[in-house]
Amino acid sequence: MIETFKKEVKLGLDNNPKTLPSKYFYNKIGDALFVEIMNLPEYYLTRSELDIFQNRTQELISGLQLKANAHFELIELGAGDGLKTKKLLSALDKQDFTFDYLPIDISSNALSLLKKDLSETLPNVSVKTQQGDYFEILASLKNSNKPKVILFLGSNIGNMKDAWAAEFIYNLGANLKPGDKLLLGVDLIKPKEIVLPAYNDNKGITAKFNLNLLHRMNEELGADFNLENFKHQPEYNEAEGVAKSFIVSIVKQTVNIKSIGVSYSFEAEEKIHTEISRKYNDALIEKIIANTDFSLDTKILDSKGYFADYILTRH
Ligand code: AVJ
Repeated sequence: MIETFKKEVKLGLDNNPKTLPSKYFYNKIGDALFVEIMNLPEYYLTRSELDIFQNRTQELISGLQLKANAHFELIELGAGDGLKTKKLLSALDKQDFTFDYLPIDISSNALSLLKKDLSETLPNVSVKTQQGDYFEILASLKNSNKPKVILFLGSNIGNMKDAWAAEFIYNLGANLKPGDKLLLGVDLIKPKEIVLPAYNDNKGITAKFNLNLLHRMNEELGADFNLENFKHQPEYNEAEGVAKSFIVSIVKQTVNIKSIGVSYSFEAEEKIHTEISRKYNDALIEKIIANTDFSLDTKILDSKGYFADYILTRH
């Protein structure tokens, strides 16, 4: 784990321009900061998708073409706190569907909190938490023969470049059977005035979230980043539909990373690219799934038209 971290940090900082992988945001501090981000007024994504799960629940259920008499598996990739999913679980429970809810997460801490919460709020729902890598777990579920619905919500796919997203969805399909469903939640392309503040809140939580990468390298890799000398900088190009986060070196400086045994020099204003958060439209989704075994059949929007949950069918 630490070896991979070292290797990927070195690879990214040896690049020109410099990069760091966004997956390393999510340590204990980063998880807590992301929960704070989800509650920020500027971060509309969570509330928009919650609007869909709360007020379009019936459309979700009919779009998923679930059969009341067939026991199915509802598998969530990266379940988090389950706030949105609970709306769906509760409706399914009330309508007497029989299913298992299988939240998959890399964090066993997040899973045990979710399991405890669900045992209190929805005691009738069968919850089987799965800790580990998405694809390893999906492979292990392959021979269950129960119909499957995969939930991949929160525009989490937006951290992937389009080619990678296409490969990811292709691989999901490889672990499913014809008729299985993928419920994909994505943020939609919209004006800069709405998108940028979501990545640049005025309490500075997103800045802390981004700069936590440097803090984490100090803690885990013996680096000596002075966080005062770096700042968070988001950018959004509406034509492209991609929000990007950067860490910018405020001054010309050198940073040593002890456990890697290298020093990196930064020019004043030099940027490290840390994250992409892609925004989508129908054409982009169609293009991404073009060479996968999925077809698009339903699109459900929130009341403001900010966010979409697409229902894809494995054919
Ligand atoms: C969890 C990937 C959906 O890109 O919007 C939030 C992460 N980064 N603020 C996003 C994030 C900065 C978030 N996703």
